[in-house]
Amino acid sequence: MKKSIRENAGFPRVRLRRNRKSVWSRRLVAENRLSADDLILPLFVTQGENKKTPVAMMPGVFRLSVDLAVKKIKEAKELGIPAVAIFPSIDAKLRDAKASEAVNAKNLICQTVAAVKKSVSDIGIITDVALDPYTSHGQDGLVKNGEILNDETVEILCCQAVIQARAGADIIAPSDMMDGRIGALRDALDAAGFEAVQIMSYAAKYASNFYGPFRDAVGSTKNLGKADKKTYQMDFANSNEALREVALDIAEGADMILIKPGMPYLDILWRVRETFHVPVFSYQVSGEYAMIKAAGSLGWLDEKAAFYESLMAFKRAGATGIFTYYAIEMARELRGGL
Ligand code: PBG
Repeated sequence: MKKSIRENAGFPRVRLRRNRKSVWSRRLVAENRLSADDLILPLFVTQGENKKTPVAMMPGVFRLSVDLAVKKIKEAKELGIPAVAIFPSIDAKLRDAKASEAVNAKNLICQTVAAVKKSVSDIGIITDVALDPYTSHGQDGLVKNGEILNDETVEILCCQAVIQARAGADIIAPSDMMDGRIGALRDALDAAGFEAVQIMSYAAKYASNFYGPFRDAVGSTKNLGKADKKTYQMDFANSNEALREVALDIAEGADMILIKPGMPYLDILWRVRETFHVPVFSYQVSGEYAMIKAAGSLGWLDEKAAFYESLMAFKRAGATGIFTYYAIEMARELRGGL
């Protein structure tokens, strides 16, 4: 290539810093934007009234009794957050090997959904379908001779989903990773008259070390002990397998897909986004939240700025929306024009 042509193709005529020279120009050329519409708030609920107990490993996050959860969800709605996801922290007494409480139509989650539906409108309620908050062993499925049973677990998940839908849940979000559960859940919901209830599948959920604080929040850490979830959650060495998981769940009727965890898995999010044309959500999980909070509290990071950057990274990688425990704080910041 002749020197003059090479020069024509680049510097000094081309200077990428020109578009970055001022705030207004950076705003003008920004490729992605974060808004409250992108955020989903996960919430922990607990028994009782006017009760709020802190989750030690997640500063700023609390287990809320139903009345306080309703208030929080109202606040989320006022800030423009389109949906919340609720997780139960139930009494140890109510946990057993079969997760009986998961299919009790009056359980904490059903009570919460009913209470929210009575007093807040126009916000989506996402309920978790998995057995771990209800089992005495902390696994997401039934256990027999040390093995996690697939098809027997799926049957219970179907009952769990139907009672949640009956209580008023808008989106059923199975986080259990059993095979074939999306098709079975769709059939069960349809048979019970809930054709309009959406399914958001945790399609690619990895056996991750970043879930620790969540397990503490729902009280399953001790129950799980030294056991792991590697026979059903995905191996973090794999990514082609994630595409197979997603393809199957779409074929079985999932309306939306979730990739989890978040930041360490942006490559998976990107590949799924490029391959399939369905809404793809991502989950900034408890361990990711805890890391930013911990560094922030030590003064090693600017907490707000780090959350903003991390959430923008999800957008850049193609997320339709993001579950984040920081949703309320971020929505408030965005309203102020961050
Ligand atoms: C369990 C479930 C987990 C999370 C959501 N649902 C933990 C696990 O699989 O052990 C983790 C969420 C987080 O860490 O924020 N069904």
